[in-house]
Amino acid sequence: MKVLVTGGAGYIGSHVVRQLGEAGHDIIVFDNLSTGYAWAVTHGELVVGDLADEDAIDALFRDHQFEAVLHFAAHIVVPESVANPLKYYRNNTRNTLNLLAAIERYQVPHLVFSSTAAVYGMPEQTVLTEDLPLAPINPYGASKMMSERMIMDLAAASSLRYVILRYFNVAGADLDGRLGQATPEATHLIKVACECVTGARDGMSIFGTDYDTRDGTCVRDYIHVEDLARAHVMALDHMAAGGESDVLNCGYGRGFTVREVIDVVRQQAGCDFPVAESPRRAGDPGALMADNQRIRRVLGWSPRHDDLEVIVRTALDWERQWQRKQADGATHSTNH
Ligand code: UFG
Repeated sequence: MKVLVTGGAGYIGSHVVRQLGEAGHDIIVFDNLSTGYAWAVTHGELVVGDLADEDAIDALFRDHQFEAVLHFAAHIVVPESVANPLKYYRNNTRNTLNLLAAIERYQVPHLVFSSTAAVYGMPEQTVLTEDLPLAPINPYGASKMMSERMIMDLAAASSLRYVILRYFNVAGADLDGRLGQATPEATHLIKVACECVTGARDGMSIFGTDYDTRDGTCVRDYIHVEDLARAHVMALDHMAAGGESDVLNCGYGRGFTVREVIDVVRQQAGCDFPVAESPRRAGDPGALMADNQRIRRVLGWSPRHDDLEVIVRTALDWERQWQRKQADGATHSTNH
């Protein structure tokens, strides 16, 4: 299939591009390289551009007859979205509208959209099904919820079919060490802990130790990026085979506390690092896990790397390599 991947130079997008390339798809990546990297695009062609630029989008769709769009490009930092909400509505919601306008204009039949568990907000249940009412508690979640709604409305009014994937906590890296999370100033737990191991960070905090969970810290459903990436390829296959539009949670349906995650990082690294206990971070629900029955049923997806040690080990291997790469880059540039 001829596919457009927005944000394909980023962490999750680049893993998906690699799997799409290996599955034989013909890929154009459109990315503004704000948090992504050209080296992360292992297959297809990279077009550097921004989804705010409607002319650039139009030219892209005019030049290529896309059969599907996979839309990853977005800002993803929850606290930043609280401090700077319009940045999120602009880049996530308005730019999705720009993309949808081109999808409509050029009658692209299939869309896979990266959504998030943040659309559920702070539900009473800890295991979440897709039919729960959406009640995001931060602009990031709201910006994604609004995008979901636009996609559904456009699909109702046209022949567009979509698969919306609601990601839980994505972590880990390519098992062969080629790709990983290189996002600058990352805030995600496993990434932060791995940066402590490599020395890129002096230490970290646990945000909140008074939650109603087994050790007082938040429980999250960590899913390996390769399993998540495979769900995208399967979503395309599903639509190509005539499958219906759907909204699917992406998670394993089990959770680990922050302390448990940090312990596994220490264990896998074979070293310790300073961990302070801090007050709760605004907007963190106590426990979130995916009910994944639907994605199993609809796509036939099932986890292959549901093992926190594998998630952490691949993240750690990547982090060490990434720090070396950056150090080499720094040495290299000072030599010129
Ligand atoms: N945490 C720490 N210290 C850190 C970083 C994180 O204690 O330095 C804790 C957080 O407070 C939270 C847990 O680790 O309890 C996980 O935090 P992350 O920042 O890794 O991930 P979130 O659960 O906040 O965010 C994820 C996705 C978002 C999505 C959200 C839905 O990354 O895209 O789940 O709740 F919006």
